[in-house]
Amino acid sequence: MSPPPSIQAVILAAGLGTRMRSKTIKVLHPILGTPMIGHVVQSALDAGCQRVIPVLGHQRQRVQRWLDARPYADRLHYAFQDEQKGTAHAVWSAREFFEGQAEYTAILCGDVPNMDGPSLRNFFAAALDSASPVSLVTAVLDDPSRYGRIVRSRDGDVRAIVEYADATQEQRRIDEINAGIYLVRTSFLADALSTIMNRPADNAQNEFYLTDLVELGARDGGVFGWAVDDPALIQGVNTRADLANATAFARHRINHRWMLEGVTFLDPANTFVELGVELANDVTLYPGVHLEGATRVGSGTIIETGCVVRDSHLGEDVHLKANSYLSEAHVDDGSAIGPCAHLRPGADIGKHCKVGNFVEVKKARLDDGAKAGHLSYLGDAHIGKQANIGAGTITCNYDGEQKSKTEIGEGAFIGSNTALVAPVRIEQGAYVGAGSVITDDVPPRSLGIARGRQRNIEGWADKD
Ligand code: UD1
Ligand code: MG
Repeated sequence: MSPPPSIQAVILAAGLGTRMRSKTIKVLHPILGTPMIGHVVQSALDAGCQRVIPVLGHQRQRVQRWLDARPYADRLHYAFQDEQKGTAHAVWSAREFFEGQAEYTAILCGDVPNMDGPSLRNFFAAALDSASPVSLVTAVLDDPSRYGRIVRSRDGDVRAIVEYADATQEQRRIDEINAGIYLVRTSFLADALSTIMNRPADNAQNEFYLTDLVELGARDGGVFGWAVDDPALIQGVNTRADLANATAFARHRINHRWMLEGVTFLDPANTFVELGVELANDVTLYPGVHLEGATRVGSGTIIETGCVVRDSHLGEDVHLKANSYLSEAHVDDGSAIGPCAHLRPGADIGKHCKVGNFVEVKKARLDDGAKAGHLSYLGDAHIGKQANIGAGTITCNYDGEQKSKTEIGEGAFIGSNTALVAPVRIEQGAYVGAGSVITDDVPPRSLGIARGRQRNIEGWADKD
């Protein structure tokens, strides 16, 4: 068997996307944390494209900066379209990549984000099988709105695409539309584009239409139209309403996959799991949970309503109670966090710890079994095994110029409403009396107490 033909993908992403009414170019608007163009590039790579050529124009530095920071950056080659003169002109801007290398060129739109890798791969396979110089994805829609219409001959062959703006009333009644996803033999593409670019853009929008490729293909070797089974896959995003629909579709797909892997969602329509998140089986997610970035969650962990977890790692059987917010934090097996806890970068919670309501932790390690039940700030600290941090304990880690560390030993007991002025050490097994302001180290197994003595004045209320 001969090896499969090589495919490169050109992604059209130069337009601003005026209907988004945004300062940000359309393709950078995120769907579950990843800009639209990221979804399209990933699908192209997943479908087997050797290299990907984004065509950039508006805000090209911003788009390129985002793409260049991705792990697949070395497979990207950029083309630039300074003035947006239409979709054919956009592909033409990438013509230096038509020589040699790839036998086929896929053309994708940066604003059609839901076509996933496996679906794209199916399209490629069918298109290659048809041996047509031009293949394209079509869909039959209840409301074909302003998409380009597929014109077929009486025997069903694809003859042309007519843009909505150019279509007759009769053509507008056609319900089969052009999805804007193509696979074209590269040599054919180069010739056809030079034909399109060397004649006037004689249409209602005065643009060079890529869709004219289809008429040229129909005259020279035939065009293969591949009807997608789920039209939601090819939904274009032009407005914020489309963006919400695309997000709903992506969310449904991701959540459904995790349900098959053994994750319970109490309300999958209201739970947002980004693409890079990893979940073990028997995780339970309540409504309103957002799991973002490179978050990983271990088996048996429960995450209650309203929690946001970003770039964090939760072990097994963790209980994350309602409305907690975690960012770059680590929580080990069997610990309970929240409700309303805030774990900031560098929070490192050991096994079977308890971090209760209104406790903020930053760059602090709690060893196994340590507890901070209520209303505390623990920053730049190391808290030993089984230590107990009373309600209202504050590590005073910042003197206005520099940060200093608080060390609390194994089994230490910090009374309520204590201020620990760092740098300071509370040694193993030591106690601190409630209401203390501790500025000196407390030796092992001693009591540190630092507060005004109480004085009772008898009969005070009876004085006249
Ligand atoms: C295009 C198709 C239409 C199809 C629809 C599917 C043409 C002429 N029409 O219409 O048949 O039904 O997509 O979504 O191709 N772009 C550039 N440079 C340009 C023009 C566009 O990079 O000069 C990019 C846009 O940023 C966008 C994509 O190409 O990502 C599609 O362009 P858009 O103007 O949205 O085309 P549609 O009118 O949607
Ligand atoms: Mg569009």
